[in-house]
Amino acid sequence: MPDSNQIIDNPTGCPITDHTELNVPMAPVGWHFDSFDAKREMAPVHTGEAGGHQYYLVTRMADIRKTYQTAEVFSNSAVSVGEPNPAYKWIPEMLDGHIHTAWRQLLTPLWSPAAVEKLKPKLRQRFNEVIDRVIARGECDIVADVALLFPNVIFMELMGLPIDDADQFQKWEVDILHGDSRSGDNQAVRMGAMGEVVGYFDKLITQRQAEPKDDMLSYVLAQRIDGEPIPREDVLAFCLLMFMAGLDTVAAQLTYNFHHLATHPEDRARLLAEPQLWPSAIEEFLRFYAFVTPSRKAMQDTEIAGCPVKAGHMVHLPLVSANRDPREFADADKVVIDREVNRHLAFGAGPHRCLGSHLAREELFAAMTLWHERIPNYRVAPGVQVMEHGGQIGIESLPIVWDV
Ligand code: HEM
Repeated sequence: MPDSNQIIDNPTGCPITDHTELNVPMAPVGWHFDSFDAKREMAPVHTGEAGGHQYYLVTRMADIRKTYQTAEVFSNSAVSVGEPNPAYKWIPEMLDGHIHTAWRQLLTPLWSPAAVEKLKPKLRQRFNEVIDRVIARGECDIVADVALLFPNVIFMELMGLPIDDADQFQKWEVDILHGDSRSGDNQAVRMGAMGEVVGYFDKLITQRQAEPKDDMLSYVLAQRIDGEPIPREDVLAFCLLMFMAGLDTVAAQLTYNFHHLATHPEDRARLLAEPQLWPSAIEEFLRFYAFVTPSRKAMQDTEIAGCPVKAGHMVHLPLVSANRDPREFADADKVVIDREVNRHLAFGAGPHRCLGSHLAREELFAAMTLWHERIPNYRVAPGVQVMEHGGQIGIESLPIVWDV
């Protein structure tokens, strides 16, 4: 691993660090989180370089929260640290101002607490089916067999798509989001899969325009913004965001939850004995294993924590660094499954805070409780070293075993 925390210059009052580690494709599990912890305790703002562009890394909760909340200065027109001028747009994630507010207003009812309440029986049914597929085997890979599959199936339900297409979606998801680590010709594989996803949704839009159904896409197609129908390419950009926001996030979180409980039998035993602790344990896993690492683009010269920030540069705002800030949380570096007050930022902050947080929490709750009712005791398969990829941080593969 590179010695990423070494300060190599200090001309601005902000440490300049070697940030090659943002591109580390594979590291032992927990490595990316530890690296942010070390930086946070060294300085509130660092600078680095990604994709040939200088950027800023903000490490402490108060500064991270404030930056997310100052949307008039820090724009969502670019959200990946190495890409200040992206050629693509995800909706609503990469919109600013009035048009963003209009999209949020039309999407909010889709994942309101009341809408999610109605979905609960379906979530339980679908997760039980996931368990049915593996329970007799006594072993599975949590990532491939459980965590990727479950949110995919739920996405199919919400979009009114045949459940049989879930396997194809899972393959596209792996090729697009994890191409770096899993395939040789990464770029070609990723672009090919992206083209296929766009083609799939394009066809679906045509079908739903001709024959609307009771599903999410038909609902969006029927909406107007500022009195005008939504352009087709914007509906497509929404479908693409849904693909990324709703699938890989739940999968990554589920995998960290399972990894924690497979390696901390004392926490698992307590949850089996006191199942009323599941909601606080799930919140604590969200806090401690917050894998989403968004960025914003500075639209004017400004400052963060006294460090000058130049217009046009990206500002990297890793949520886990906020969530493990000892200035905000007692025992910030420990998983406390019965933590009572837990104002974490795992779902972000400011105008782009996650729209799917109610659904995400219910998916996590259904999965964790049902699994532990049916397979309470399990462990990481012997001899396996669990590895984690960077970017949107996530565990690569988690083989576990249990007695049958
Ligand atoms: C554990 C699971 C999840 C986590 C940790 C998570 C986290 C996040 C975060 C941090 C953001 C803000 C990104 C930013 O500020 O740039 C976000 C945005 C978003 N999420 Fe989630 N998310 C999860 C699941 C979901 C699900 C299940 C859905 C919907 C089905 C969803 C829909 C969205 C949407 C639409 C946005 C964009 C909101 C906007 O731009 O205004 N998310 N999510």
